[in-house]
Amino acid sequence: MLKMIATIEKHQQDFDSRIHSISTSEPLKQIRIDFLGKKGCIQALMKELRQATPEEKREQGKLINDFKQYVDNLLKVKEDELGKTAKQPASKNETFDTTLPGRRETTGTLHPITQVMEEIKTIFLGLGFQVEEGPEIETDYYNFEALNIPKDHPARDMQDTFYVEGDAVLRTHTSPVQIHVMENREPPLRIIAPGKVYRCDSDVSHTPMFHQIEGLMVEENLSFSHLKGIMNIFLQEVFGKKTKVRFRPSFFPFTCPSAEVDIQCVICSGSGCRVCSQTGWVEILGAGMVDPAVFNCVDYDAEKWTGFAFGLGIERISMLKYGINDIRLFFENDLRFLKQF
Ligand code: DAH
Repeated sequence: MLKMIATIEKHQQDFDSRIHSISTSEPLKQIRIDFLGKKGCIQALMKELRQATPEEKREQGKLINDFKQYVDNLLKVKEDELGKTAKQPASKNETFDTTLPGRRETTGTLHPITQVMEEIKTIFLGLGFQVEEGPEIETDYYNFEALNIPKDHPARDMQDTFYVEGDAVLRTHTSPVQIHVMENREPPLRIIAPGKVYRCDSDVSHTPMFHQIEGLMVEENLSFSHLKGIMNIFLQEVFGKKTKVRFRPSFFPFTCPSAEVDIQCVICSGSGCRVCSQTGWVEILGAGMVDPAVFNCVDYDAEKWTGFAFGLGIERISMLKYGINDIRLFFENDLRFLKQF
């Protein structure tokens, strides 16, 4: 027993001095072989135990196992330590520029159409208008009839309608919201109705779906000059205080008199260019005084109430505001385009 203790002590001293003297991981392999290998000193001690009595085996076996555990643990610690330092020189060569900016999270922005829509809503809210909504699938009655566009009326040709089934259509304009609102509310009222509309049409300035804002004001004693005043304020808010606005006589079945409203071309400031077909003016919206036939449809007293209405295309306004020449860009969702807004 004493001999065994002395031998183990000697091996341990030997092991300690070898393990503490190394500074690279290379010699570790040999130390592991010398102590834990098949022909290593611990195996040799085990062999010696074969001749011992059972009691000696138990006591000395424990000593040998403890030593084996000790060697194994220390080898692992040293391997870890030297493994890490061994990697360090490589990382010193890697260049890490602490002044570089971190990777940014990109945040999305509102779609330009939504932005313009919101801007227009804000302007009209400031003028006392309320925002209303209506369905995108309408009946023939709301989309046409109640707006004084009877069946077979040539005005139906102004809009290439998508028919759903029966007398249901995809609304071709936001004007039917006027009817829904007037059916449900008594005057006086000031509303705008933003939303999607659909027409079977597609080229650089038309898409099958686009956005409109409808406006309606009903009060006693409203005249065309009120309409002009509101349109002037609105257009100068959107396009700038110096924007010139003009009214041209036009025709819409649901307004009388009707007008198309132009602004001085924002691209060439009126001197004439491709966008304004050399006229210096671009059409921006349709408007007029509510036709008494429409009031009759919603049971408003046409003798008492007067009103004006207007309708405008958001895409058209956005194109002029930002100088965009192809309406389809709004719907391709190319980030290079969308990021500019
Ligand atoms: N609904 C018409 C269209 O889509 C636009 C319009 C014109 C609306 C005149 C109006 C209006 O309210 O008075 O072409």
